Amino acid sequence: MKFFLDTADLAEIEEAASWGVLAGVTTNPTLYSRIGGKLSGFHDHLKRICELTDGPVSGETVGLTRDEIVREGEELAALAPNIVVKVPVMPEGLAATKCLYDKGIKVNMTLCFTVPQAIMSARAGAFYVSPFVGRFDDISEDGIEHLANMVAALNNYDFGHSVEVIAASIRSANHVTQAALIGADIATVPFAVLKNIVKHPLTDRGLESFLADWEKVKNS
Ligand code: E4P
Repeated sequence: MKFFLDTADLAEIEEAASWGVLAGVTTNPTLYSRIGGKLSGFHDHLKRICELTDGPVSGETVGLTRDEIVREGEELAALAPNIVVKVPVMPEGLAATKCLYDKGIKVNMTLCFTVPQAIMSARAGAFYVSPFVGRFDDISEDGIEHLANMVAALNNYDFGHSVEVIAASIRSANHVTQAALIGADIATVPFAVLKNIVKHPLTDRGLESFLADWEKVKNS
């Protein structure tokens, strides 16, 4: 499984990239506003994210009609070669995805919650399909089970182009573990989750005892 960072924070992107684990980024204007960004500066910021990221960067559209989404998608795609246009799964979103596919622009179909939505996204031409895990947990349903169903269903078919599953709305180490066991191609995670999954108390304890032993060996 590859790791994408779900963020607009350049320092977080640089740090994850320095660990050698960053394969891409998903972002949106809301994440940008959380770090103090204004909508007017979002496209310039997205360009900066694309420069820092050796991999696809999904930028979200906000239009609600096919033509608005296609226009925004073309604007986003012009920003950098590694842009992927994030489009919500809905009739107008599917129609826009088909147009963008025909123009050679890659789409990440987002807000996927069901098997039919995931299959229609892939049929319309989405290169990335993003099932949301945590949002199911928010309504006391098992987001991991839904993710497993979508991955299994997509694996049944050849869509004539690459389709990768991005496990999104990932909130915990367990979500990451389960997504990997299910075989999701990618997990897009907030930086706090990425930092957390590097750690384990036994790793910390092992390091402490290694350092203590090393002190003794050095002084002997
Ligand atoms: C990524 O594409 C999604 O926008 C993100 O993972 C959603 O996460 P949330 O449900 O925690 O807001």
